[in-house]
Amino acid sequence: MHFASDNWAGAHPKIAESLSKHTDGFAAAYGTSALDKAVAQTFNEIFEREVAVFFVATGTAANSLAQAAIAKPGGVTFAHREAHTIADEGGAPEYLTGGARLHPVDGPLGRIDVDNLKKAITGYNNVRAGQPMAVSITQLTESGTLYESNEIAGISAVCRENGLPMHMDGARFANALVSLGCSPADMTWRQGVDMLSFGGTKNGCWCAEALIFMDPARAEAFPYIRQRAAQLFSKSRFIAAQFEAYFEDNLWLDLARHSNSMARRMADHIATSGNVRLAWEPRGNEIFAVMEKATAARLRDNGALFYDQNPPHSEKHLIGENETLVRLVTSFATSTEEIDRFGDLIA
Ligand SMILES: Cc1ncc(COP(=O)(O)O)c(C=O)c1O
Repeated sequence: MHFASDNWAGAHPKIAESLSKHTDGFAAAYGTSALDKAVAQTFNEIFEREVAVFFVATGTAANSLAQAAIAKPGGVTFAHREAHTIADEGGAPEYLTGGARLHPVDGPLGRIDVDNLKKAITGYNNVRAGQPMAVSITQLTESGTLYESNEIAGISAVCRENGLPMHMDGARFANALVSLGCSPADMTWRQGVDMLSFGGTKNGCWCAEALIFMDPARAEAFPYIRQRAAQLFSKSRFIAAQFEAYFEDNLWLDLARHSNSMARRMADHIATSGNVRLAWEPRGNEIFAVMEKATAARLRDNGALFYDQNPPHSEKHLIGENETLVRLVTSFATSTEEIDRFGDLIA
């Protein structure tokens, strides 16, 4: 029962097959192969416009280099208080931008509150504090919740008013997309998103992440920024090979639908268990649940793998004295048997 992270899952067999298929022979290096170009074209089709796509090694690299691409002296990017880029990237954004800063903005369950964002931006309009540089949101959020399309548009309106580009951390982009049931264009540039960290790794790839610029004109200097950050793959065709299989016959959407439906099934078990409660409604493949510490220990003794989680700042009073908040993550590789076994253990 592997619910520690979707990063713990392996790679989908079709991704592995595609890697093997492209193993033989020779292909141009550094992103110039026919396969790289074909995959770039597929991204254009998926986003219904010409976009600029750059493969990078990790989600952290994509998020940080997005900031590097629009960095300003004294620049400050606004992100949710619990955003991965603030809490889990070890200073990579600051390092790769040459010292730009991240300002935490509060809002319930992983979502930036628009009024808090406006206030935070206002605080930076002077030379001693620094200058506003960008806004970054996460979709799916770190709390497993979502921004509805109109909420993305609401944040982008603040960005436009302040002349700031908007970045989306899409480490779980596919999970959010199938949950909302909209198109990639509707979840991004049509709502004002300028740059997207597009994650494939958590959703069945071996290692496939990309930074996408919705307007290629914004990306003119980016090849140099990526190379300077040592993120240009020589055998880039193997990242392309993963994306080729990922998009073929909409595999990526099927995998995300599967992991989301496994999370839904687990949420239903939790809701009827009596022993464990949902901390809030999941919208993708991450569940947050509250249980007695003794229950968590018993589940672990019975082979369930999951992490304890600090409650988000908006939910500080969620857990009682002997309780713990846990995060349970499903993936393309989660089986109904695993979920039902977990359900039996908490019944
Ligand atoms: C919301 C979010 N963003 C980005 C990432 C990417 O992280 P990594 O650098 O480990 O690929 C993760 C991975 O845990 C994540 O959960």
